[in-house]
Amino acid sequence: MLFDSHAHLHDAKFRKDRADVFARAREAGVTRFLTLGDNLRASREAIALAETEDGVLAAAGIHPSAAAGWDEDTARLLEQLLAHPKVPVLGEIGLDYYWDKEPATHKRQQDCFRQQLRIAKRLGKPVSIHSRESNADVLRILAEEQAGEPGGVLHCFIGSYEEARRGVDLGFHLGVGGISTYPKLGDLREALSRIGPEHLLLETDSPYLPPQPRRGRRNEPAYLRQTAEALADLLSLPLEEMAQIATRNTERAFRL
Ligand code: NI
Repeated sequence: MLFDSHAHLHDAKFRKDRADVFARAREAGVTRFLTLGDNLRASREAIALAETEDGVLAAAGIHPSAAAGWDEDTARLLEQLLAHPKVPVLGEIGLDYYWDKEPATHKRQQDCFRQQLRIAKRLGKPVSIHSRESNADVLRILAEEQAGEPGGVLHCFIGSYEEARRGVDLGFHLGVGGISTYPKLGDLREALSRIGPEHLLLETDSPYLPPQPRRGRRNEPAYLRQTAEALADLLSLPLEEMAQIATRNTERAFRL
């Protein structure tokens, strides 16, 4: 039984065939899902899906791409969403210096990130963190905010072994998604194998970032199985055992 620890299943890209997407997922052994919002509207959609679909939990949060809209009202409304029983996680939040190359607005992203880490801490909710070309600042801010309590996951982790180690030492898990199967990312595989299975979660980030054989298409939770098989191979574990460990890690990381 696999747990897709990071997906956006409320996304409009699944509007036409969502029932089929869930059917294919379950057929592939993927039975639990966390669907994450990236702004207030998407977070509400994520919660609505969790209320109606079996095995689905939701996360609410403001993604760095929406950081410009962060204010006290947003914080208050976000806290209301986080009180919902189907919302164990705050996310996705973080920093993205790939899409936003303007140093002047990095400060705004950082402020939005820090404020949400403080909410997470106060509410005891783990976080799901997005980091793109920003690992140094993400890790520094996590340390400064003492975010290891409540902890969470560095979703779709890409980075060096040293960065992976630092994240784990700070109390975080690492999300392993489709990109871990891309031929060019041998260094990432090396880092994940040195970290070992006890700190890794499986995820798809659907509809984005499909594993290697499906690149260029819409991703969906059924493809988590390919990522799981590749990770089991990498760690020389039977698939069943890898799946069990990753699911247990997810329950621990999300305090389920
Ligand atoms: Ni995502």
